[in-house]
Amino acid sequence: MAVANRVVLVTGAAGGLGAAVARRLAEPGTALVLCDLDDAGMKDVVASLPGTPVLTRVVDVGDAEQVDAAVAAAVEEFGGLHVMVNNAGVIAPNARIHNLTAADWDLALRVNLMGVVHGMTAAIRVMRGAGGGSIVNTASVAGLTAWAYAAPYGATKAAVVHLTKIAAVEYAKERIRVNCICPGTFESGMSARIPREAMAAMEARHPLGFGVPEDVAGAFAYLAGDESRWTTGAAIVVDGGYAAP
Ligand SMILES: NC(=O)c1ccc[n+]([C@@H]2O[C@H](COP(=O)([O-])OP(=O)(O)OC[C@H]3O[C@@H](n4cnc5c(N)ncnc54)[C@H](O)[C@@H]3O)[C@@H](O)[C@H]2O)c1
Repeated sequence: MAVANRVVLVTGAAGGLGAAVARRLAEPGTALVLCDLDDAGMKDVVASLPGTPVLTRVVDVGDAEQVDAAVAAAVEEFGGLHVMVNNAGVIAPNARIHNLTAADWDLALRVNLMGVVHGMTAAIRVMRGAGGGSIVNTASVAGLTAWAYAAPYGATKAAVVHLTKIAAVEYAKERIRVNCICPGTFESGMSARIPREAMAAMEARHPLGFGVPEDVAGAFAYLAGDESRWTTGAAIVVDGGYAAP
């Protein structure tokens, strides 16, 4: 068991991957705090977790105060925060750079980058005084390889990979491990928003084909729990072979 008797917060918890991670980490004694903009979606996830203590919070991860309040609620309700999963993300319109607007960039920066910054900051402030913890950020293979037509997405995911490494070095002495996962393409609300032709081209580049969220969730369990106790600053690729060539 990866995170038994721990308090785990997951952002983007109503989405495909966030829900799968929440279900994967719902072990005996685990308490979960689920955060998302989508309240109804979170309620559906809660219904799939009978017996697990769960708190849901409607949170915009782009707003530092809301993220701070969610972390404070975890501490107040469950007595601490041991695992922080910064997973909420958005994809910009499928377009070359000259066709993107400043608003497209603002949204990607606000959610994909600053959402992770706010989540890490709030979690670190709690974990430092409590003997450590594990932070797992959701990046993407788009942050490691050049995905045409998705510049805001790829640039913000690359920033998440680098931010993860910097935080890992800064907080290792305080026993806070910081890692990220770089998934390839899997079925979710996000991938459903990518144009069909783009998806067909992408699928051809995944030797094992597209995944499903459950194909990725085990890597989160590994990084969240003690089996990864000597791993920090890692960007673990889980991508059906996409990045292999
Ligand atoms: N689907 C893929 O192929 C794929 C591949 C690599 C990485 N990812 C990453 O996985 C993560 C989860 O995405 P998913 O595929 O499950 O997509 P999804 O759209 O199903 O889930 C994303 C969730 O984030 C929430 N969200 C969006 N903006 C938010 C905000 N400002 N504050 C709080 N919550 C917000 C949405 O409501 C949604 O529930 C994202 O970070 C995404 O970039 C996805």
